[in-house]
Amino acid sequence: MVGHFWPLAASAALFGVTSANPSQFPHRYQNVENRLRQRGSSGTPETTSPPFYPSPWMNPNADGWENAYAQAKEFVSKMTLMEKVNLTTGVGWEGEQCVGQVGTIPRLGLTSLCMQDSPVGVRLTDFASVFPSGQTAVATFDRQLLYARGLAMGQEHRGKGVTVQLGPVAGPLGRAPEGGRNWEGFAPDPVLTGIGIAETIKGIQDAGVIACAKHFIGNEQEHFRQAGEAQGYGYNITQSLSSNIDDKTMHEMYLWPFADAVRAGVGSIMCSYNQVNNSYSCQNSKMLNNLLKDELGFQGFVMTDWGAHHSGVSSALAGLDMSMPGDTAFNSGLSYWGTNLTLAVINGTVPEWRLDDMAMRIMAAFFKVGNTVGSQVPINFDSWTLDTYGPVHMAAGIGQQQINHHVDVRADHGTLIREIAAKGTVLLKNVNNALPLNKPKFLAVIGEDAGSNPDGPNGCSDRGCDNGTLGMAWGSGTANFPYLITPDAALQAKAISDGSTYQSILANNQWASTSALVAQDSVTAVVFVNADSGEGYINVDGNEGDRQNLTLWKDGDALIQNVSSLCSNTIVVIHSTGPVLVDAWYDSPNVTAIVWAGIPGQESGNSITDILYGAVNPAGRSPFTWGTTRESYGTDVLYEPEGPLPQLDFSEGVFIDYRHFDKTNQTPVYEFGYGLSYTTFSYSNLQVAKTGAAPYTPTEGYTGAAPTIGTGNVSTNLNDYLFPNASFPYVWQYIYPYLNTSSSAKAASGDEYYGLASDSYLPPHATDGSAQPYLAAADKISPGGNAALYDVLYTVTADVTNTGSVAGDEVPQLYVSLGGPNDPPVVLRGFDRLSDLAPGQTGVFEVALTRRDLSNWDTTSQNWVISDYPKTVYVGSSSRKLPLQCTLA
Ligand code: BGC
Repeated sequence: MVGHFWPLAASAALFGVTSANPSQFPHRYQNVENRLRQRGSSGTPETTSPPFYPSPWMNPNADGWENAYAQAKEFVSKMTLMEKVNLTTGVGWEGEQCVGQVGTIPRLGLTSLCMQDSPVGVRLTDFASVFPSGQTAVATFDRQLLYARGLAMGQEHRGKGVTVQLGPVAGPLGRAPEGGRNWEGFAPDPVLTGIGIAETIKGIQDAGVIACAKHFIGNEQEHFRQAGEAQGYGYNITQSLSSNIDDKTMHEMYLWPFADAVRAGVGSIMCSYNQVNNSYSCQNSKMLNNLLKDELGFQGFVMTDWGAHHSGVSSALAGLDMSMPGDTAFNSGLSYWGTNLTLAVINGTVPEWRLDDMAMRIMAAFFKVGNTVGSQVPINFDSWTLDTYGPVHMAAGIGQQQINHHVDVRADHGTLIREIAAKGTVLLKNVNNALPLNKPKFLAVIGEDAGSNPDGPNGCSDRGCDNGTLGMAWGSGTANFPYLITPDAALQAKAISDGSTYQSILANNQWASTSALVAQDSVTAVVFVNADSGEGYINVDGNEGDRQNLTLWKDGDALIQNVSSLCSNTIVVIHSTGPVLVDAWYDSPNVTAIVWAGIPGQESGNSITDILYGAVNPAGRSPFTWGTTRESYGTDVLYEPEGPLPQLDFSEGVFIDYRHFDKTNQTPVYEFGYGLSYTTFSYSNLQVAKTGAAPYTPTEGYTGAAPTIGTGNVSTNLNDYLFPNASFPYVWQYIYPYLNTSSSAKAASGDEYYGLASDSYLPPHATDGSAQPYLAAADKISPGGNAALYDVLYTVTADVTNTGSVAGDEVPQLYVSLGGPNDPPVVLRGFDRLSDLAPGQTGVFEVALTRRDLSNWDTTSQNWVISDYPKTVYVGSSSRKLPLQCTLA
């Protein structure tokens, strides 16, 4: 009977490949050169996605995964087919207490795994902290703080019973400054984002929680990420937008930080809503099988974004491991997996080794972060209500019990949050010694962005409004504030303790009273303004997630211009999710200081007070470029689809943000990496030492065959897979692995329906479990790609001296020119935050330059290659202030 059942979702059209003729599917290693010759040059976007099969199976000997895989093998060996399926498939939207949960394995003592947002704290609960955004945290350029933030967030998730924290974010990278979710990620630079994501992952996982690097990949805008959502705001598209990205740009930009995530041992990766080169990310064999699992050697599991699952067998064969939240559409009661995956394994369309691999990957990630079966922290909160009692299965409305235990997981994280937001604040302008403030006689604080939301800090669901100070942007990447210290509250307290007088007008449109206030003598006016953005399921003031423009919200420009026309000491503080246009007023002599405070989280007011008064000497660096106009960026969001399947061509290639400004010779207002201090620094004594590392060797040889875990005996008798018995407590809309009939053979027969042999619709080699050749750019043991890519080729040092009169931190940066005609003038390759240098003190900046740092992706050899062009290193304080340079010999 094997081979005669047609799982509902298996059709050739759903295989995530764009070739119409299945016989054209090349074997994953055949014809590679031919295929690639026409592909992949930078800036020529791909519009098709080649097939890549079979899906690479786990490597139990991978570095850092050995113990986890030994434990996983012991556990998975005992599992039945349906238990494995239960582990891979969510129970459905609002089926349990977390935003996503998979089925339990009660027989073996495994309670349900809990997936919970977000990248800034535990979402949808109480008594948890709200951390600064990733973008603000990375502006510290401080690895220790990035790690500490990850660790603290991980501890809070663990305390609530979360298994997987749905973060951090490297997609969006930040292709377009308008991108709604850029603030959830780090920076439009792959190296800075790569370090940001790796440190965060290490922190989260050291706390015993699996991190989830998301959204893989090309998830660069909110518009058209999902057809249904776009229909909701008036666009009749039929499929998610396709991000069309060439092979070189993919490797040198968008994949790069995910390589760092894999190298850091990340346990899970979320595939995105969008398509990549016209194949949905969650069934794109090129992205999941080839790039992520084969080339990067990812050993954890891939889960879908919520509703990003579009097929059954094809996604399983393309490398997906977990369906979230498990139903085809929220609350449909149907699943592409669950029952269908059970059937697909029984009938052989999905080989058993692939299901074993899914289960092994999930359980290995579980063990890797230190979990043991039977001693998981119980889930003690509920995402759908803060009420203490309620239905545990919210969608079905049943299972009344205590669902919120209101566990306070905050510890003393407020102190860390305050420090990170202050250290991530960027001082953009400071003249006439406007800052730091020193007991100003009369401090006036102006602007809605300094005050409270009249509905309270959590007054808008998922922070979907811009009322009061912008402590958090909107969407799933949020958490509920335990409190929000407003700038007004903190600055007032400081002013009063200093003996200053203090008045605030917490509105942008009280012109008469504002003018009267700031026109008084001896006023120091601090104007707070903002620009918000978020996720595409919420529209705030006409912005469908992505910003409609780069200007300040709520007449912020007019407010600044009005105040600065009357007050010669106007200090501007900006809270925003990315760059805003400041050209109209930034060089006004009355605007004496400008500060970017990002998205600071719960301690907002304290952090900005620390900066404005100099308790923290600013050293944050802008993690993006501030252009003079929107057009100056050269990239933008696609706001109008040209057809039912919107095409977003990444035709700019690797030239986003500072790479674009440098290439086109445009002077931005403030460049990437820029930021001032209350002291000054000088740079000297650049030294470069060659290490004599061994030459690069492409990896050769073969993997082992796909391992069989357990007995390998799968019954083909459908009666063995029915719901347990008539009294089984079926929960409405819940997703199960069971079959509800044993007579589905006829209805499910591929032969009858398509007139095809039962497996002829499968891409060649999709079910092949035999040994496979290694990719040259992959590694046999080490996750993250060929280990020699991380060999250190040069060590670079420079002296950094505090030449001012107060102690401070400095962020020296190292850039490289790769020298080729198509290379960006410079690319960031190293940085450090040298802390607390006393006046006159010299610190040593040191960077280990790796092979990867000096390589380009070569589309022909499908490997990293150091070109013959001369390489130059530059060291300085921003992407454009690079006083030291040296050619690499
Ligand atoms: C977002 C993800 C999030 C998920 C679960 C999706 O809409 O894109 O980032 O983790 O929802 O809330």
